[in-house]
Amino acid sequence: ILEILLKGLQRLEYRGYDSAGEGDDWESNAKSIQLIKQRGKVKVLDEEIHKQQDVDLDVEFDVHLGIAHTRWATHGVPSPVNSHPQRSDKNNEFIVIHNGIITNYKDLRKFLESKGYEFESETDTETIAKLVKYMYDNRESDDISFATLVERVTQQLEGAFALVFKSIHYPGEAVGTRRGGPLLIGVKSDHKLSTDHIPVLYRSCKFESVFLVLDFYPNVIAVSVTDCFLSYDGSAVIEHTNRVIFLEDDDVAAVTDGRLSIHRIKRTAGDHPARAIQTLQMELQQIMKGNYSSFMQKEIFEQPESVVNTMRGRVNFDNNTVTLGGLKDHIKEIQRCRRLILIACGTSYHAGVATRQVLEELTELPVMVELASDFLDRNTPVFRDDVCFFISQSGETADSLMALRYCKERGALTVGITNTVGSSISRETDCGVHINAGPEIGVASTKAYTSQFVALIMFALLMCDDRISMQPRRREIIQGLRVLPDLIKEVLSLDDEIQKLAAELYQQKSVLIMGRGYHYATCLEGALKIKEITYMHSEGILAGELKHGPLALVDKLMPVIMIIMRDHTYIKCQNALQQVVARQGRPIVICDKDDYETIKNSSRTIKVPHCVDCLQGILSVIPLQLLSFHLAVLRGYDVSTHHSGLKMIIQSFFVLINNYYSLVGYAHILLHILLKNH
Ligand code: UD1
Ligand code: F6R
Repeated sequence: ILEILLKGLQRLEYRGYDSAGEGDDWESNAKSIQLIKQRGKVKVLDEEIHKQQDVDLDVEFDVHLGIAHTRWATHGVPSPVNSHPQRSDKNNEFIVIHNGIITNYKDLRKFLESKGYEFESETDTETIAKLVKYMYDNRESDDISFATLVERVTQQLEGAFALVFKSIHYPGEAVGTRRGGPLLIGVKSDHKLSTDHIPVLYRSCKFESVFLVLDFYPNVIAVSVTDCFLSYDGSAVIEHTNRVIFLEDDDVAAVTDGRLSIHRIKRTAGDHPARAIQTLQMELQQIMKGNYSSFMQKEIFEQPESVVNTMRGRVNFDNNTVTLGGLKDHIKEIQRCRRLILIACGTSYHAGVATRQVLEELTELPVMVELASDFLDRNTPVFRDDVCFFISQSGETADSLMALRYCKERGALTVGITNTVGSSISRETDCGVHINAGPEIGVASTKAYTSQFVALIMFALLMCDDRISMQPRRREIIQGLRVLPDLIKEVLSLDDEIQKLAAELYQQKSVLIMGRGYHYATCLEGALKIKEITYMHSEGILAGELKHGPLALVDKLMPVIMIIMRDHTYIKCQNALQQVVARQGRPIVICDKDDYETIKNSSRTIKVPHCVDCLQGILSVIPLQLLSFHLAVLRGYDVSTHHSGLKMIIQSFFVLINNYYSLVGYAHILLHILLKNH
């Protein structure tokens, strides 16, 4: 079982991670659980397991259950104690693995600490392990099921999660549940499965009894299986079975003595009373990237969720407040500073350019945006009353890190905007914000950019939260953030149209991208994406600079993309459009879908939804991310090739329950007992 678990984790390595751990029974009576956790690769975990003196790899089990996890740190640095499985206590009575973020973990932790539970890690997940023990310690009767305990736990949790539990009190049993994060169950059986559907068992809240939906599947309440695999995604499972069940939000799946059953607390209108056992048709390679051909494409399409993860637990859309736990102790000091300096490289630099204007507006401070290498070359003067931001997906980029040390030496307050917990920039800055976009594996940065953008906007909102005159503007922006994920989805639906455009452009030598104001950063970022992955020449040009030289490049053959949005630069952008048209250019215009004037006057438009001006740059960059991706594919380049090896990593998990009982017939007996109980 250990070998299968480790192999499963290796199949998930593509998701990226910084530490790995496993927990399983090492005695055949499953009365004790061993945990092994390591920072670093699965290989290191494997070596550690084989170093253990007391592991007897020849023990035989009737039912053997192990859980394993790779973690991408979000709560606390990568370390063995922060790795999963997390445990309820020193005896490992309950252990749990978790993907996602629990947003109310601080309150739960406070509550549990007041009840005497002692915490050892910095993770949100440990709260879940303690909470399930609390539920167990305070159970009203001894025959309470593991699934019921887990249901009670999930009722207390806020945020997103996929969880799997194991306990010495329930040997051979695994319980998994999800909300807002995927969880699938692969089933393998020696005999033909008795059904293609697993009925959902609804539990009334008041009683311990279970009642069944008998209309559709009268003969089954659980399915006997030989091996059962719970996993965050199909890649760990597919080499063992292609028969899988996808759980829905708040389903609780229990595997008890080789029977898989699915529970829900109550039935609501529209619920389907069963979960289908589906056949995965995909090959391993395909599953790893989902339906996408590369990580870059996958990450572009993840943006509706990644921006939500950046805001999760931080933006309250009902009372228009923003909380950044990482900055709250420093915000007063930042408000008193003389200027803000944003320092970064590449795409992360563009996130600074994109938000500079709104930072200036909401903080009323001078804001400088610097390329880290140039900033260092210039020996830029930095003072104690400066606040220096370091924006970095990886948190390891050498120039950004050197600039950080340079600023620290000069006494400035340093703030990180990073995607990698435990990275050098995250550790060495005085404070900061983790953007929580999840690991970015694709070579070209996409979702990190939009999440950095959102993080900087959140910072700007926080800086002016007590300024009465700013409140209408703050509300407008926060409400803009609320609808942002849906608007991103709408832009992503333009993919086919953009692919066609790429087919028209891919043999060109060069593409110019023009815009101004909030969209200058989009021009720079779009051009960088095109250069980086399509090997085409591309240049982002500030539209206000056209007449000072670049206009000479425009003729009827030169592909030009212009960004024209209905903000304070609209008239000036129209003006630029006229200049380009006058030189016989035929620009492709990215514009607001309701801007009939521009649509009428342009030969080609990409129409995106309207959003509050300072967030519109998130919507204008996505068509260019998609365009660069399609151009690269058409030009025959592999967009996934890593350039720095720094693009890392997520948490993912894999569970295997191996059962040697044959339990055909149990379902009927259990059905009888349960009906009688009810
Ligand atoms: C913390 C959790 C987060 C959770 C939130 C809910 C961690 C790492 N984060 O987030 O997952 O959703 O509580 O309450 O446990 N920092 C730096 N430099 C950086 C980035 C961060 O010094 O570049 C510091 C921050 O100042 C802070 C700590 O790291 O002290 C965690 O930062 P962050 O994850 O952004 O804090 P929260 O939003 O409170
Ligand atoms: C472009 C890209 C790079 C990075 C740059 C900074 O697609 O990925 O330009 O943005 O190397 O990297 P981080 O953000 O990790 O500091």
